[in-house]
Amino acid sequence: MSTAQQVPDILSPEFAADPYPAYRVMRESAPLIWHEATQSYIVSRYEDVERVFKDKNNQFTTDNYDWQIEPVHGKTILQLSGREHAVRRALVAPAFRGSDLQEKFLPFIERNSRELIDAFRHTGSADLVTDYATRFPVNVIADMLGLDKADHARFHRWYTSVIAFLGNLSGDPEVAAAGERTRSEFAEYMLPIIRQRRADPGDDLLSTLCAAEVDGVSMSDEDIKAFCSLLLAAGGETTDKAIAGIFANLLLNPEQLAAVREDRSLIPSAFAETLRYTPPVHMIMRQSATEVSLSGGTIPAGATVTCLIGAANRDESRYRDPDRFDVFREDLTTTTAFSAAADHLAFALGRHFCVGALLAKAEVEIGVNQLLDAMPDVRLADGFDPVEKGVFTRGPQSLPVRFTPLTD
Ligand code: HEM
Repeated sequence: MSTAQQVPDILSPEFAADPYPAYRVMRESAPLIWHEATQSYIVSRYEDVERVFKDKNNQFTTDNYDWQIEPVHGKTILQLSGREHAVRRALVAPAFRGSDLQEKFLPFIERNSRELIDAFRHTGSADLVTDYATRFPVNVIADMLGLDKADHARFHRWYTSVIAFLGNLSGDPEVAAAGERTRSEFAEYMLPIIRQRRADPGDDLLSTLCAAEVDGVSMSDEDIKAFCSLLLAAGGETTDKAIAGIFANLLLNPEQLAAVREDRSLIPSAFAETLRYTPPVHMIMRQSATEVSLSGGTIPAGATVTCLIGAANRDESRYRDPDRFDVFREDLTTTTAFSAAADHLAFALGRHFCVGALLAKAEVEIGVNQLLDAMPDVRLADGFDPVEKGVFTRGPQSLPVRFTPLTD
């Protein structure tokens, strides 16, 4: 097995600035690394990450979330397994697909996107990260839950601190303390609203969660609060980075932007390729339940495994010319890209495959369509080169654009 010395350390500034060259070295010559600082085994090849996520032989658990996220959320479906997980997932999944998504939530998505674009459509300039991407998905979730969007600044602060806690690989005590604060602030905010919604249900997702029952199992106030915290974080931070990512990728490839503008049915392919090329979540952990052999060596039972989605999604043995953004690539299937049959790893695979994948797709399709309509000649601000930020989750730090405003 390789040691971490041979490749840039995942906690180094060099890696944070550009992880892709390090990912290549890992895949080629160090596919299994023992990483002392995070006390975890790092895997980077597509076949290994896919195998860990699919977990056909029940060799891995999500017990890592006991320390990685439970201290801020409380216990959520991410940590559950077996029947308990299946029952909990069945309680919440219907809200994120099919008729609930189409009939109840699409209007929220349309309206929230439009409201944000209205604030800059006449100005000729915007920062698509701060003016749009960081606001849109979290506003949609707040609306779905029937929460007051006026609390946006707090939601944003909370989900950012939750994700920072999750990705606190170096164990920064300030990040840990901010996470603990978020846990108590969120509980103080949410529990009275949950009690009120139980007493006086409405047509929102929160009321649905309060009433949901599968096989005689329903959710406690504490369960619902934890799930709402997970939704804000899992649905806010990730889709925020996905929307900024798709625009950055298209703006840097003007001929592909023109093709997508011309044929809007290409948006799902552009989104799928963005998820492969610049995934919002670059790494996900697991815990080994037994000894497991993977490329490059053996992982003992009871170890933490860090799966590098960002590396696996650029594996040259899986994708042709993997470092090229290509909306038209033939080795990525758009029709399955938002289901557990996906042939990229951005939503993970297997039992914990992202519940919100179709919601994210709906948000991206509607958002990109509306943005392209509002900004016919959108381009990056002069001389601006997008810079990605983040190690655990990653996306453009800012995306200033210019366009000729439409006249009414
Ligand atoms: C592009 C956007 C998104 C990305 C890249 C993404 C990524 C992921 C990943 C990698 C996982 C697997 C975690 C694991 O296996 O440990 C996951 C799970 C999950 N996601 Fe997403 N997500 C996105 C959007 C959303 C949205 C919009 C929501 C809902 C509002 C959501 C809710 C969830 C939930 C509840 C889980 C846990 C599922 C389970 O444990 O069974 N996600 N997501």
